[in-house]
Amino acid sequence: MINPLRGMKDLTFEDSQRFVYITTIATDIAKRYGYKYIETPLLEETALFRRSVGESSDIVGKEMYQFTDKGGNDVCLRPEGTAGVVRSFISSKLDRQQGQKYKFYYYGSMFRYERPQKGRLRSFHQFGCESFGEGSVCEDFIIIEMIGDIFKELGVGYKLQINSLGCTDCMPKYRDSLVSFLNSCKDELCEDCNRRIESNPIRVLDCKNQSCQSLLTESPKLLNNLCENCDNDFNKLKELLDMSKIDYEVNTNLVRGLDYYNKTAFEFISNEIGSQSAIAGGGRYDKLVEYLDGKSTPAVGFAIGIERIMELVNIPDIQRDGYYLGSMDSESVDMLFGIASSKRKSHKVTIEYSPKKLKAHLKGADKVNARYCVVIGEDEVRDGVVWVKDLETKEENRIAKDEF
Ligand code: HAM
Repeated sequence: MINPLRGMKDLTFEDSQRFVYITTIATDIAKRYGYKYIETPLLEETALFRRSVGESSDIVGKEMYQFTDKGGNDVCLRPEGTAGVVRSFISSKLDRQQGQKYKFYYYGSMFRYERPQKGRLRSFHQFGCESFGEGSVCEDFIIIEMIGDIFKELGVGYKLQINSLGCTDCMPKYRDSLVSFLNSCKDELCEDCNRRIESNPIRVLDCKNQSCQSLLTESPKLLNNLCENCDNDFNKLKELLDMSKIDYEVNTNLVRGLDYYNKTAFEFISNEIGSQSAIAGGGRYDKLVEYLDGKSTPAVGFAIGIERIMELVNIPDIQRDGYYLGSMDSESVDMLFGIASSKRKSHKVTIEYSPKKLKAHLKGADKVNARYCVVIGEDEVRDGVVWVKDLETKEENRIAKDEF
């Protein structure tokens, strides 16, 4: 027997119903916020992720499903959705429509070669949104509000954490002061942090190691080093969240694991799912379009980890629905197809091709959760009627075939 690969799971039975339920609600809400569907390939040039997610990130450094294809191209399975959407935005020359705003939503599989554990898979699904062309921090707020709406409708509780990562004006100066601080306590920091002092010092801030964290309490804080513009935007974001009564916590160590962010960064956390507690994350990435050779375009987005919220979502009881059609003798089976075609215009229809006794058909209708069990036999064919049982009210009727 061939099993799925380690860290990969089939979506079947209840999980697939939860998946459809989650994506349907998220899609519905994203559309209400003006987002349109986008689908990009699962496979992209490796360079796309190197240049966007970043060489020094764990995702690019350790976790890519990367290979050379038959044409000799260096490709990889997408570890996240944003880079592909930005590439598509630039490939379709939407970056040249200055002043235009574009909003895209997507969902699908992402691949990261991580060490599998509860809530951490190698093949997982995200629902994401990317908004292009809006530089106002109001868009950051609206996006956070939208995620809150999605979680509310799904019945998922969360804690929201926000931070600002500054911009090209304030971040480099902060980076320098952070590097000198980190060098001053280099010997006490873990191996990973030491490696990052040069490659990506900001990532040191979210080291999970307790002894590093206690040293970092003394580190210079990004929020105290923002330029006026970033500071005003961050204050405005907090003001808008306060006004809308959306609870949040400022986490100065929230830096995200992808390199393309600037200004607003946020994460939604659940206390109910164990150590892999981030259920959504995102932020602003105003430089990425330009960095991937497009025309400078501000952008902001997020992604929800679908598997992480699956067990938190209560799907409503599935209602009995549609028609089950069966016949009692082999001669009348073919008559079911015409009935099915006309009923299927507006209802779910299941046909049983094998002739069976009434009791077996009633069981079959129950198995597919049909509302109505419709059966024909010799008598019904002769009289031009169908026998119908409403499995909810238990009412039984013989109805003229044409009328039915
Ligand atoms: P991310 O934080 O890497 O951001 O992933 C978003 C969410 O995907 C996480 O919060 C988590 O719920 C889920 N996730 C990540 N890795 C795994 C895994 N191995 N197994 C299961 N779930 C996982 C991004 O991917 C950005 N592209 C988000 C974004 C969009 N930023 C701007 N636009």
